[in-house]
Amino acid sequence: MSAQTITVEITSIAQVTPLIKHFRLKATTGGYLPAFSGGSHIIVVMRGQKRIHRNPYSLLSSPNRLEHYEIAVRRMDESRGGSHFLHDVVKIGDQLEIAHPVNLFGLEKQARKHILIAGGIGITPFLAQLEDLRCGEVPYELHYSVRSHEHAAFLQHLGTREATRVSMYYDNEGATLNFEELLAKQPLGTHVYVCGPAGMITRVIDTARSYGWPNSHVHWEQFNAPPVGDAFDVFLARSKISVHVVPDQSLLECIEAAGVEVPYLCRGGVCGFCHTRVLELDGELLHHDHYLSANERTTGKSIMPCVSRAKAKRLVLDL
Ligand code: FES
Repeated sequence: MSAQTITVEITSIAQVTPLIKHFRLKATTGGYLPAFSGGSHIIVVMRGQKRIHRNPYSLLSSPNRLEHYEIAVRRMDESRGGSHFLHDVVKIGDQLEIAHPVNLFGLEKQARKHILIAGGIGITPFLAQLEDLRCGEVPYELHYSVRSHEHAAFLQHLGTREATRVSMYYDNEGATLNFEELLAKQPLGTHVYVCGPAGMITRVIDTARSYGWPNSHVHWEQFNAPPVGDAFDVFLARSKISVHVVPDQSLLECIEAAGVEVPYLCRGGVCGFCHTRVLELDGELLHHDHYLSANERTTGKSIMPCVSRAKAKRLVLDL
């Protein structure tokens, strides 16, 4: 079953960096929005003229202030339409549907220390987590890397308690975060969290592994935008319908447009909810998720339709 939606109204829009817009949303029914914890995201449903976009965005507002939600959206150069819709089409007073918040990037309760590493727009889930961390006793540090001062979003959201806990790294000043130095000297029981560009996430994961950090202490969030690709056809065996997947829509979006529901939480290749069995394949699956194991990819029996595609003469799915 797909997440239920809530109708919200956009109450403010602010350009906070040359690439990032900040949106405040309130429930059209008034009153409080559903509770969430730091690290949660919502799916925003955007009804464009030609198609519906459903994109995940981290909640950056305080989990203690439920009269509104706040999200930030980076304009993507290769957007399939979602970020352009929010940057160029919507205006204050417009209504959107959102799914209930889901947390796939929560803080580990047993941690003895938290290291938060953000790159660019990756700061957003940490802003909500800082609200929780400020109230607790567990030590924490935030390392925030951006291109330049004008690309450093939400610095004003960092409170006085962060004054000695935040390290900024400005690329244009040649300041780079030394992952080896940072992760080599942390006390036992430290958890590291990273959200940002793919290269940064890979560096953190690889460095932590090379120093023997347990996988359970390394957390990352990266919602992959579904990539564009060649068109292909798929047959849904249980629904008995054929679906044509166009280059700039995901397999999941095309299946939904054909009236077939697929469960989802993240729509970014992370949660595993959209896992679909492949019944027949004459060709190749193009996996773009972070969920399937290397072995599962090799067998060709599973696909995550939110981000993955196929290059096949025949593809039959158990839907
Ligand atoms: S919806 Fe989360 S992996 Fe596809």
